[in-house]
Amino acid sequence: MKASDFGPDFLWGIAVAAAQVEGAALEGGKGLSIWDTFAARSGKIKKAAVPSVACDFYHRYKEDITAVKFLGFKIFRFSIAWSRVLPAGRGLPNQDGLGFYHRVIDECLQQCLVPYITLYHWDLPDALEQEGGWTAFSINEAFNNFVKLCAVEYGYKVKHWIVLNEPFGYTSLGYMLGMHAPGKTGLNNFFAAVHHTALAQADGGRILRSEVSKAHIGTTYSCSKILPHTNSPNDELVARRIDCLMNRLFIEPALGLGYPTADWELLERFNVRFATWRLTARMRFDFDFIGLQNYFPLTVKYNPLIPVIQAWEVKAKNRKRPHTGMGWEVSGLHFAGIIRQFAAYENMPPIMISENGAAYHDKLISGRVHDDERVAFFKEYLAALLELKNEGLNISGYLVWTLMDNFEWAEGYQARFGLMYTDFKTRERFMKDSGHWWKDFLAS
Ligand code: BGC
Repeated sequence: MKASDFGPDFLWGIAVAAAQVEGAALEGGKGLSIWDTFAARSGKIKKAAVPSVACDFYHRYKEDITAVKFLGFKIFRFSIAWSRVLPAGRGLPNQDGLGFYHRVIDECLQQCLVPYITLYHWDLPDALEQEGGWTAFSINEAFNNFVKLCAVEYGYKVKHWIVLNEPFGYTSLGYMLGMHAPGKTGLNNFFAAVHHTALAQADGGRILRSEVSKAHIGTTYSCSKILPHTNSPNDELVARRIDCLMNRLFIEPALGLGYPTADWELLERFNVRFATWRLTARMRFDFDFIGLQNYFPLTVKYNPLIPVIQAWEVKAKNRKRPHTGMGWEVSGLHFAGIIRQFAAYENMPPIMISENGAAYHDKLISGRVHDDERVAFFKEYLAALLELKNEGLNISGYLVWTLMDNFEWAEGYQARFGLMYTDFKTRERFMKDSGHWWKDFLAS
């Protein structure tokens, strides 16, 4: 398999996110984000890690962008830390913070890389969380102002925009399960966050459309093929529920279909709380592309002891299936399956695989990391992707997650997803074998 098999127009890139790489948490006038405060207080992050320095991308962005170029990627996807440009979440912009992203963008353009900006990759300004964060009605106005600020500031040089990164990720882990910032729990918080997010993704799209000429606008979703453990009616029922939750909850409102209430009665119960729940027109936006991010399929079985969803994960390890260092099942087959499921929506825009990658227990030995498992992972997923392309699915590109080992949310610095190994004592980066593999692959 060669990169050229995907055609001359296929877009290859690599992605990072502000809170995971930048560090400089309090430099240049930045305000605190919910990840700064959650990491400091919650006790929920492995080895009590904090993102205050992370990979120090804030100071090393030139070197990192040079590495992207060296590897042969064409796209560099990064996010804007809302609290760097608006330290209090709203109000007066921070000129230093705005200047930082100008420098990052200019460096990309100078190196002939195409910048893709993610507006929201999970790091809400802490000041807004004090008002209730994504559960509060006031979040939509604040978000829209933030989008407008970025669009006006950078829109004349950046044309590719991603409104949200994986809304299901931050609403579920952050507002239902309490495992991610801001650490809230419960279905009431979850559904409030979901609804304001569904409005924000469409509003954000509209603001970009009106402020940025010739904009190419997308948003991203996590997606996982959901498999019932057996073909019993109960296992199939809970698989359908989890599919509504993990795969359908945000794309269907964006496509103008509203929430998938017909397939899960619980969603109906929540609509009475929000006057705007049925505003299918406002939740719709015709995106130019949809970013899909896949890390694992999920096998579930019925368990009546689990409240509400009554579903239980049957882990890959227990089923003796190949899995990554995170315990996530490796399956190019189910990757292809879930992409086909999304591609089957009637008015689905072109798809970009906006993140895909794997963490393993990498070891740095004499400056080298022999990560054969990661290379095998990419080969399997890329072969599946090529099959999808050859079937005629409209897939425009693929972005690797991620450039270098970074602050992996609740895993702290313990999960290494990078093509470069980061020594978190010195912040030195070392190209892993998988990085060299990508360089050769992209040249092929
Ligand atoms: C997120 C990344 C994260 C990756 C691996 C995605 O859900 O967008 O920020 O690091 O998964 O867990």
